[in-house]
Amino acid sequence: MSYASVYQRSLTDPEGFWREQAEALPWFEPPKQILGRDDNGVWRWFAGGVTNTCYLALDRHLEAGRGDQTALIYDSPVTGQVRSFTFAELTDSVARVAGALAGLGVGKGDRVIVYMPMVPEAAIAMLACARIGAIHSVVFGGFAPPELATRIDDAAPKVILCGSCGIEFTNVIPYKPLVDEAIDLAEHKPAHTVVFQREQGRAVLDRPGDLDWDEWIDGAEPADCVPVDATDPLYILYTSGTTGKPKGVVRDNGGHAVALNYSMDAVYDVGPGDVFWAASDVGWVVGHSYIVYGPLIRGCTTVLFEGKPVRTPDAGVYWRVIQDHRVKCFFVAPTAFRAIKKEDPDCRLKARYDVSSLKYQFVAGERLDPPTYHWLEDHLRIPVIDHWWQTETGWPMCANLAGVELMETKPGSPTFPVPGYDLRIFDEQGHEVGPGVEGAVVIREPLPPGALPTVWGDHQRYHDAYWSQFEGFYFTGDEGYRDEDGYVFIMGRMDDVINVAGHRLSTGQMEEVLAEHPAVAECAVVGIADEDKGQIPLGLVLLKDGVNIAPEVLEQELTQSVRKAVGAFANFKRAVVVNRLPKTRSGKILRATLRKMIDRKPYTIPSTIDDPAIVSEIEVRLKERGVM
Ligand code: COA
Ligand code: AMP
Repeated sequence: MSYASVYQRSLTDPEGFWREQAEALPWFEPPKQILGRDDNGVWRWFAGGVTNTCYLALDRHLEAGRGDQTALIYDSPVTGQVRSFTFAELTDSVARVAGALAGLGVGKGDRVIVYMPMVPEAAIAMLACARIGAIHSVVFGGFAPPELATRIDDAAPKVILCGSCGIEFTNVIPYKPLVDEAIDLAEHKPAHTVVFQREQGRAVLDRPGDLDWDEWIDGAEPADCVPVDATDPLYILYTSGTTGKPKGVVRDNGGHAVALNYSMDAVYDVGPGDVFWAASDVGWVVGHSYIVYGPLIRGCTTVLFEGKPVRTPDAGVYWRVIQDHRVKCFFVAPTAFRAIKKEDPDCRLKARYDVSSLKYQFVAGERLDPPTYHWLEDHLRIPVIDHWWQTETGWPMCANLAGVELMETKPGSPTFPVPGYDLRIFDEQGHEVGPGVEGAVVIREPLPPGALPTVWGDHQRYHDAYWSQFEGFYFTGDEGYRDEDGYVFIMGRMDDVINVAGHRLSTGQMEEVLAEHPAVAECAVVGIADEDKGQIPLGLVLLKDGVNIAPEVLEQELTQSVRKAVGAFANFKRAVVVNRLPKTRSGKILRATLRKMIDRKPYTIPSTIDDPAIVSEIEVRLKERGVM
């Protein structure tokens, strides 16, 4: 079947289309309704269907006789370990952790926070929660204690599962003190912190409720899969929005499993037994969908990699992993290849390895810049597939469908919408724009299975953030255009979200941190283009009257504050003192105008601004400081 016919059918007969996809998975009880609205008026898929995501990812493969197939390969150049788990072994480990969780009183609907480095126990923890119907919320290990505390208060977990340390290149980062600090900061106090001890940095367990992972699971009764409704939540994953407070994206069980299973086939062209590798982190949506759930539900072997594209030990490590595990499909953020390209510009290290197993190279997480795209095409000589999606959708919205029909590509474009996504480009008034005209990228309701049905604990925010801009259309937050052939180009965010090395961050969150500095009267944080990381944050700071502080000292202090409050991965390193910030008469800082000016894009200065000269004043200042 052609892409065009599959796509058309998904829009003209969504219920028929997704019913068939749902039938590709076993259900404890089939859905009573394929598509309908819930009490909040939100479109929901597969209501009344009874399932269990852990069963779909593990047990069903045992029942199909594939218990001896490798399910997960842990490859960790930072510790020098490679370990494999068959589906039978993984099921066994997961059932034991699930039993241990149940032993702590964790049951269906209870929340568990997972704050772990890239070790198999992270995936085991997630699957164990799914097994007993508990809702996991994985927090990326790079987040500093205040961010973890915010998530603890919002999710109110009974238990936190953490690793004793993470390893960044050769740096051992103790996690337990970060968890303790976060719990001290949070109002909600989880009953237990279970620590998976790593020999690279063991934690001291000296607080009431602290448990040692090995002792905890020793002797625990393995737990069985608990039946859950398709619309019951599987997990909450916090993501950056416009304000400093992250949004808890909720994922359900049924729609998520059906969508991921479909995507493994249609988007990635992989089936049972194929080796799939997404080099991300379990703390991000890529890790949830394509390190843990997608590949396992599909019966693939997934690779869980604890390393970096470079210096672990060199820029050839990706090719080594592809060779050693016979990876068919590899998925990573473009920033990783930019790091490799810098160290190995001619991709010489690849020649040392046999990467003939690799059929597709997928990239996402940020815009694939044309130079990186061409570098990959030239050196890999396999389809290089840019695909676009976000935490909220949980799976790709635009992609060249390897499992359906590969279309010709255009550099800078993730090609066409994926079946299920009725994508439009709107102007500010909600009118569809013509080819080549940039606008808001929106999706017509209903969103396909897998997309978020609400924001945890704040349904109004779900409505306000995604559905209030254009009635009946989901606002992705991205801007872009379609060319005359219908190819979609995603150009960047319209809101105050920035993308640093494939990591999504809120500028509002960083502004809150800068504003707390005693010298700072006002500030704005904007994302500026960066060769390596795509974007990095830049702080524009207005000092309080009478304050005398050297700009370098201020920059250093603000850098430290952001590292402590948000995390080092935010890469906040630059702050420039300005005399005025451009504001509307109602006091709103014109961040979008600043962003465009700094990126040397055309911008207009709204008539409501106090003094239009402020923008050019800032431009001069930034040039003086070497930022532009
Ligand atoms: N835990 C603790 N700290 C972390 C961390 C984690 N999980 N991830 C990053 N950091 C820290 C780094 O150690 C570094 O600290 P430093 O300033 O003290 O050196 C800082 O955050 C910045 O990290 P990063 O931006 O990642 O830069 P880097 O130089 O350490 O590494 C790359 C560069 C390209 C190797 C790295 O950015 C990378 O692998 N990017 C791919 C990102 C990705 O896969 N994103 C997926 C999203 S889908
Ligand atoms: P996250 O929710 O962390 O996955 O980040 C999602 C955001 O990253 C999107 O809204 C886009 O702004 C950006 N993004 C992801 N993939 C792509 C892509 N292929 N091209 C351009 N931007 C992308």
